[in-house]
Amino acid sequence: MTATIIDGKAFAAKVRGQVAEQVARLKADHGLIPGLAVVLVGADPASEVYVRSKGKMTVEVGMNSFEHKLAADTSEADLLALIDKLNNDPQVNGILVQLPLPDHLNEDLVINSIAPQKDVDGFHISNVGLLGTGQKSMVPCTPLGCLMMLRAHHGSLSGLDAVVIGRSNIVGKPMAQLLLGDSCTVTVAHSRTRDLPAVVRRADIVVAAVGRAQMVPGDWIKPGATVIDVGINRIEKDGGGTRLVGDVDYDSCAAVAGAITPVPGGVGPMTIACLLANTLTATCRDNNIPETTGLTV
Ligand code: GUN
Repeated sequence: MTATIIDGKAFAAKVRGQVAEQVARLKADHGLIPGLAVVLVGADPASEVYVRSKGKMTVEVGMNSFEHKLAADTSEADLLALIDKLNNDPQVNGILVQLPLPDHLNEDLVINSIAPQKDVDGFHISNVGLLGTGQKSMVPCTPLGCLMMLRAHHGSLSGLDAVVIGRSNIVGKPMAQLLLGDSCTVTVAHSRTRDLPAVVRRADIVVAAVGRAQMVPGDWIKPGATVIDVGINRIEKDGGGTRLVGDVDYDSCAAVAGAITPVPGGVGPMTIACLLANTLTATCRDNNIPETTGLTV
């Protein structure tokens, strides 16, 4: 069997198209232009690439993009003052502070200083609590993108066995909450899980989000299962140079899975599309405009 390839790149382009349509409607009907502020502290090269790409796509869907690049030695007080200013700026509907932050900054404190209704990453403790209790919240972008692809592929996820590998606050934990919300039987596996291969072999849905290159081989995958690969790892190529690979061994997994997301071109593009969808959602909620996008849970 050869797996269906879930084309995240095409799916993300479709989502961005839907966002752009809604943005045009907000402008025409309400005179509103959604605004997304992105804060980058320091000059981590990978983060700079993400931030540039986010800014470009924000503008492409017709939103305002506000970029704040701060020096690596920015004080916590200065960062909190900027966030306070953005919280109170009516032009700004979404705020994203790029992680990781330099070591001298308290990540939890910084994230929890963002107004929850503008927290388009869904990392604020109040959004985490709302998601965990099944209430309307801002949903973290990467797991939201994975859920959209799973729903599109399966229709209903009800009753399926889902195994999430990785327990991060950014992906693993919110992914588990979303799958539970769609009535999957959810297992969260991690580095201390006993007999991980046996756990993964039970799964109808495998979401790999550990950050270890190609750690899931095909013989861990139940034939016909859906594999969502959140990993983005750079490895040395045989003939020199580097290439991007996921957390699953693509070729051996694709040979047994029913469906699989490639790396690159799977989950990655969906994350930014969902960030834009969340910014649209935040703008609608801020202005008491019905959310008709179907782009959130
Ligand atoms: N760094 C890596 N992933 C993310 C993300 O989804 N949001 C933010 N703010 N920083 C990140």
